[in-house]
Amino acid sequence: MWQGRGLFVALVLIAALFALPLYLPGQGDANAQRFEVYSWWTGPGEGDGLEAMIEHFTKNNPDVDFVNAAVSGGAGSNAKAILASRLLANDPPDSYQRHAGLELQDDVRSGKVQDLTQLYQEQGWHATFPQGLLDYLTIDGGIYAVPVNIHRANLTWYSPKTLRSLGIDSPPRSWNEFLQQAPSIKAQGKTPLALGPEWTQKHLLEAVLLGELGPDQYEGLWDGRMSWRSPEVTSALNTFQMVLEFTDITSAASDWQPQLDRIIDATATYAVMGDWAYTYFAITKKLGWRQDFDVAASPGTDGVFDFLSDTFTLPTGSRHPEITKTWLIECGSTEGQNLFNPLKGSIPARTDADPTPYLDYLAWDLQEWRNPDTRIVGSLAHGVVANNAWGAEIDTALVLFLQDGDAVKFAETVATRYRETK
Ligand code: GAL
Repeated sequence: MWQGRGLFVALVLIAALFALPLYLPGQGDANAQRFEVYSWWTGPGEGDGLEAMIEHFTKNNPDVDFVNAAVSGGAGSNAKAILASRLLANDPPDSYQRHAGLELQDDVRSGKVQDLTQLYQEQGWHATFPQGLLDYLTIDGGIYAVPVNIHRANLTWYSPKTLRSLGIDSPPRSWNEFLQQAPSIKAQGKTPLALGPEWTQKHLLEAVLLGELGPDQYEGLWDGRMSWRSPEVTSALNTFQMVLEFTDITSAASDWQPQLDRIIDATATYAVMGDWAYTYFAITKKLGWRQDFDVAASPGTDGVFDFLSDTFTLPTGSRHPEITKTWLIECGSTEGQNLFNPLKGSIPARTDADPTPYLDYLAWDLQEWRNPDTRIVGSLAHGVVANNAWGAEIDTALVLFLQDGDAVKFAETVATRYRETK
């Protein structure tokens, strides 16, 4: 019997040895040393902004083994899926990017991120960030992310030279006007409106809905006050269908940068894109603001600011919560925001930031954002107004809508899924 027990103990010991991670003296756990910040900012412009902030952070924190764990793909098209599987496996990075708004809700409700109320109090951030933005970051009474910027989504980018060559005086102020300009642009051999991958098509849908419905009805779409089954929405969706006829959707670009390249090489006339486009044109491509490229509010949205904000979080189970807090302080600081935003093509989330580093487009952007008469609404494609479950349902329905063109079916699905995912 004792012999049998000895064999059993030996087997348990061997099994335990295999189950243990292999620690050798002095080696440590490589992962435990690495401080990992996760985002989707790899491309020109966005990647540079992030790098500038990282450089400042690592200069002040030389002992931190900083890992920039960015996954390429505009609007987080790849990064979000990989992050979801890491969060599911309880293997979070030390901090990850999310949009302010309902995109954060699932993470909060499933306990994936930590409440930052105390950090906000220590840093005085309740007084530094605009109340409207704080409202979007507050979920079930806690506050869960630190905003690094403000972006504007409802913009049309174009080349003044291309417009002149087509005999067009100014970009369209309504989608109807776009539809009047488009046949002649097409007849002159250019694509009226350039598109990229699916998320840019959703971004365009958002711009058409906002331009056609106006800010009140647009906002009603997201909080249930405006019926998706109403004739106004059907009409806006039909306009979207007509607009698509004048795009390069069948040969759409692989991401937003190649989409904008079509404006630069003058094969396309307009692109609806957020203001991360600005630094791509101005810094990456070294083009002259107003001469080589220009911008207007997307059709029908003058005086409306369709906003989104990039934030960073403190995940539950972060290996280095204290370093994460130092990173979040960098993200929320005047210095960090002023290093990041002029390269990123966005403006600071802080209300007290000095406007001096914000030139050309960014000066106008800041002015519009701070103008009390500007109407601020939230972006669909960039996480503000729909939670992840509903957003994913809208994505699926949109793919079908783009194939079958059935506006009524699309609206019906979106309305039904709203109730189911609320
Ligand atoms: C948005 C993000 C922006 C920019 C853009 C294109 O979702 O908030 O900061 O990265 O995608 O990638």
